Amino acid sequence: MFSRALKIASVQTAKNFSTSSQNNVKVAVMGASGGIGQPLALLLKQSPLVTELSLYDIVHTVGVAADLSHIETNSKVTGYNGPENLEASLKGCEVVIIPAGVPRKPGMTRDDLFNTNASIVRDLAKACAKVCPKAFVGIISNPVNSTVPIACEVFQKAGVLDPKRIFGVSTLDVVRANTFIGEAAGVDPTKVNVPVIGGHSGVTIIPLLSQTTPSVNFPQDKVKALTERIQEAGTEVVKAKAGAGSATLSMAFAGARFALNLCRALKGEQNIVECAYVRSDVTEAKYFATPLVLGKNGVEKNMGLGKLNDFEKELLAKAIPELKKNIAKGEEFVAKNP
Ligand SMILES: NC(=O)c1ccc[n+]([C@@H]2O[C@H](COP(=O)([O-])OP(=O)(O)OC[C@H]3O[C@@H](n4cnc5c(N)ncnc54)[C@H](O)[C@@H]3O)[C@@H](O)[C@H]2O)c1
Repeated sequence: MFSRALKIASVQTAKNFSTSSQNNVKVAVMGASGGIGQPLALLLKQSPLVTELSLYDIVHTVGVAADLSHIETNSKVTGYNGPENLEASLKGCEVVIIPAGVPRKPGMTRDDLFNTNASIVRDLAKACAKVCPKAFVGIISNPVNSTVPIACEVFQKAGVLDPKRIFGVSTLDVVRANTFIGEAAGVDPTKVNVPVIGGHSGVTIIPLLSQTTPSVNFPQDKVKALTERIQEAGTEVVKAKAGAGSATLSMAFAGARFALNLCRALKGEQNIVECAYVRSDVTEAKYFATPLVLGKNGVEKNMGLGKLNDFEKELLAKAIPELKKNIAKGEEFVAKNP
């Protein structure tokens, strides 16, 4: 009897062990020494979902990794510095988050970053397509409306594109919308969920206040003012930082939330829904953010637009031509600069 109990206990332990060993996820942060990269890596280091953290940058990565590696959580951190170590940094990675590139200064649009960031994202995407073509890739580098098409074109050229695995991280728009709507409605923002669709710049950011849960009811002038604040929230931070960069801490929070939800989806957790900017046939724009059900293979189901009111239909009509232009610019860049 006693030995049977022992046997059951050891099987139980083995089972627990095998469940937890299935939760091993190796995550890479590309641009890990930057304003977003460092706090993002810190938040990922705190999560038990991540068992290996691979940090890549062209400066300071070894120091950032040494610093993080002293934190008493159960994950291994490795730093890789410079292009000669790029491929090694991606080996075995299942989730790759890319915040590499220059941020905005006051007076700049996200599109003004294109010239510098397009080639950075292209080169990182090339390495991912070669070393970890099945990884979930989350792109933070702006202009997201163009950098996601760039990454998809690179994967396509390498013959490994699975558009269900490549995401533009628009989570910060949702986080901001939840905060502003929660404040305006007097509701705990952690309980608010505002779907934000479209793209990630100015008029392409479309918060769907009519689909907010719990439902909110503002007069139309307030809806317009809140919508514009959500669309311009990034610029609010750029102006306040007065030349010292754009959103980094709130972006790290949003990036970690998205990355960890990718890890959960990868490991088979159900009912994970996040908005993200992906290859899409929901509208005329080839890439479009909508709420997505995430699963083991990436996008499991695109939940589409839902029912839009007249104001939201107008926002959509304004967003589409801008999105198409941004998408074409990304695709042309890869065609001309393979
Ligand atoms: N998606 C969003 O919601 C969102 C929000 C805020 C900022 N951003 C974007 O995120 C990007 C990073 O912003 P940041 O504030 O962290 O900038 P940052 O300048 O502080 O950091 C960028 C990091 O990228 C590194 N880098 C440059 N070239 C690289 C390369 N070829 N390979 C690897 N790393 C490289 C730099 O060394 C630096 O450490 C910007 O493009 C910014 O516009 C996106």
